[in-house]
Amino acid sequence: MKRLDFPILNNKSIIYFDNAATTLKPKCVIDAVDDYYRYYTANIHRGIYDSAIISDYLYDEARFTVQKFVHCASAKEVIFTSGATHSINLVVFGYMKYHLKPGDEVLLTKAEHASNILPWLRLAEEIGIVVRYIPLNSNYSIDYKDVVQSITERTKVISLAHVTNVIGDVRDIVRIGKLCRDGNILFHVDGAQSVPHMSIDFQNSFIDFLSFSGHKMCAPTGVGVLVAREELLNEMVPVFYGGGMNLSFTSDGKYQLKDGPVKFEAGTPPIGEVLGLKSAIEYLLEIGMDSISQYEQELKKYLVAKLKDIPSIILYNSDSESGILAFNVEGVSSMDVSKYLNSFHICVRAGNHCSKMLKEDMGIPSTVRISLYFYNTKEEIDILVAALRNCKKVFQIVT
Ligand code: ALA
Repeated sequence: MKRLDFPILNNKSIIYFDNAATTLKPKCVIDAVDDYYRYYTANIHRGIYDSAIISDYLYDEARFTVQKFVHCASAKEVIFTSGATHSINLVVFGYMKYHLKPGDEVLLTKAEHASNILPWLRLAEEIGIVVRYIPLNSNYSIDYKDVVQSITERTKVISLAHVTNVIGDVRDIVRIGKLCRDGNILFHVDGAQSVPHMSIDFQNSFIDFLSFSGHKMCAPTGVGVLVAREELLNEMVPVFYGGGMNLSFTSDGKYQLKDGPVKFEAGTPPIGEVLGLKSAIEYLLEIGMDSISQYEQELKKYLVAKLKDIPSIILYNSDSESGILAFNVEGVSSMDVSKYLNSFHICVRAGNHCSKMLKEDMGIPSTVRISLYFYNTKEEIDILVAALRNCKKVFQIVT
């Protein structure tokens, strides 16, 4: 699907299976960034000459593109950040820090990415909130009943990845969101691994805050999004202060900030990257998010069936619904498997994948991870499987 749109796939003979880390970029995105630098570079919200007006228009339009993509109520709810990590830090240190009290509980899981654990741990040190973990089941995913049972009268926030980055399980965010809204609990969704792969409905999933990155969805690095319900956004405090977000400041120490998302975009934002993100979203919408997720599920089933046929392969999440597969080769370290696959120009990730608590439940130090996207093919999977068939044997000979 759409391979010709990706210059890197035409220029280099790689098989790229590390899409959960970052995705490849299609020509339209590269062109959107290139056009900005080549033809109308200007800062935004400051100039009144032609190129500044074009840049302003396209940058502001990008908020509407995101709104359409995630179905939030208004473009005013869309804040551009540098990535999901920045977005989550803004939620934690811009909103939660001023709304939570000592002893208030935040529910996470041990399968969360570092970005959805460390800010909360830091906040616990700063203001005395309590971080608790919803238990994982034997598939390392969560059961709804365990979410319900983990809630106490002190639970004020549930913060979960929609799709986890190692196990790739898809959380039932609509059901959990409804539970949160009914129970007066704030619901933050880390959409880094879901927004690029499936359609998401911010309003109908009862989400309060949604974080995601551009670079995992065909857009450039250095841009991400925080969608915050307008009412919450109005109560949020910026973490960064500077140009572009203020109305006035005087030597008597008084200052006034702007309203809306620009208040959280101090300094010159990543303009070219935002325009690249706009182009990436338009591109994904043209393919269709449902087509993307269906195709990835089909590829994943194909991959799992082939790998199940190799006795030395241990699979950890063959049933999870996304295009992420974690595995090991018996007796070979995940790093060695990754290096071995590199000799076939196959790119996969090995290690803890930034989810370092998960090993407490999995009981293994690390895994190899394959993460698929819509430009991967069954032919690529066949090459991977052929390579993996010999992996254990090769390392037995070497050691
Ligand atoms: N969060 C990215 C990953 O899972 C970097 O690989």
